[in-house]
Amino acid sequence: MSSNYRRVKGTRDLLPPETAVWSAVESTARSVFGRYAYREIRTPVIEHTELFVRSVGESTDIVGKEMYTFDDRKGRSLTLRPENTASVARAYVENGMGNWPQPVKLFYIGPQFRYERPQKGRYRQFHQVGAELLGDASPLADVELLLMLDRFLRELGFEDLVVLVNTVGDEASRDHYRQRLVDFLTPRREALSEDSRRRLETNPLRILDSKHAGDREQLAGVPELVDSLSEEARSHFDQVLAGLDAHGLAYRVDNRLVRGLDYYSHTVFEIVSQDLGAQDALVGGGRYDGLVAALGGGAVPGIGFAIGEDRLIDLLPEAFRQEAATAVPATVVTVGAVAPAEALALAEELRSSGVECLVELAARSLKSSLKRADRHGVRQVILLGDDELAGGYVTLRDLELGEQRQVARADLGQVLQKPPHDRGTRT
Ligand code: HAM
Repeated sequence: MSSNYRRVKGTRDLLPPETAVWSAVESTARSVFGRYAYREIRTPVIEHTELFVRSVGESTDIVGKEMYTFDDRKGRSLTLRPENTASVARAYVENGMGNWPQPVKLFYIGPQFRYERPQKGRYRQFHQVGAELLGDASPLADVELLLMLDRFLRELGFEDLVVLVNTVGDEASRDHYRQRLVDFLTPRREALSEDSRRRLETNPLRILDSKHAGDREQLAGVPELVDSLSEEARSHFDQVLAGLDAHGLAYRVDNRLVRGLDYYSHTVFEIVSQDLGAQDALVGGGRYDGLVAALGGGAVPGIGFAIGEDRLIDLLPEAFRQEAATAVPATVVTVGAVAPAEALALAEELRSSGVECLVELAARSLKSSLKRADRHGVRQVILLGDDELAGGYVTLRDLELGEQRQVARADLGQVLQKPPHDRGTRT
């Protein structure tokens, strides 16, 4: 096949039956977030490039090397969104959401684009399930958001995920710390990796989560950001931790957690899994109290998270996956001289009463119809022969038990509608 007819590197086709798992995860998200009164927002996948430069930050990896940026036909620079927080903040300002009752609680599910080196769990088109809370600065808002995230992950069956939290303080705390960090690292500059030497000028805080072994060595004894926190920032963080404790939400404070986007202030967090590679998190998030103002809105605080849906689905507990499986429960098959059109008519009756079924539309031998049903994983075969047609009943054959019985045509819808474990859907 010519490479032009293959999918673009780093993108994937999501196929059934796997798409049913995606759908089930998304329904769970809608259900859990809905209980916290979050409502869905859908923003465009393209935005003006400047939006991400201004919000995510010029010196970040995302803006510096990972964006899909192009000029449109009028020469405007547009970018496929690499994340959705900037777009949500823009939408908040642009749609006057500041006049809505506060706080505004929004969630989104959708594709994001980053030009990264593809590997397992890292794609160029990936998907995020995220939530943003705008207009509430209180530490309890941070706590409630984390409780919602935790509830979602627990409803999917996750048990052993680790929540890492930290604070990057307010602007004054960060300015103070940045200077201490630069003072500490400058004498060690020559021993740092090229990336970190560059960051020393552009974004020193990012050096803290360098994975480079030499950098890690140089970071021994580095001053901690916690020691530079303003009183207010310290108090916010303490209240968040106390709230998490009060609700029994387990976490680990990681003083080196700084996140790769510039808009954060105060609380930042990630959820990591032992099963993901060392540098990959399942969830990232935090507070961004200055973002709306930076985009021309008022002083509106915000906090949110985004879950990497691709990674989430890779790690999904088996029980949830099983439940989401979607075997077709039944197929209608004609027997003998009965025309397949009769089977279609019966299938339509069943669909009107809410039953999901296949129908054999070609005249085939019973043996070959049963074989085809088996290949589709169908468990119940509804046989429609001359006697059945004349008598107003069907013969219902259970392929797994190897049993069959007669069911009045009028009752069939009800019989097949029983919950899957009663009607014996294969999973
Ligand atoms: P982020 O940490 O850049 O944060 O991304 C969040 C999650 O998206 C990551 O933890 C990861 O699971 C997933 N992800 C990122 N890049 C890829 C990729 N190339 N392939 C697969 N999955 C990926 C944000 O995007 C912020 N907007 C989160 C946020 C929301 N902060 C506040 N509100």
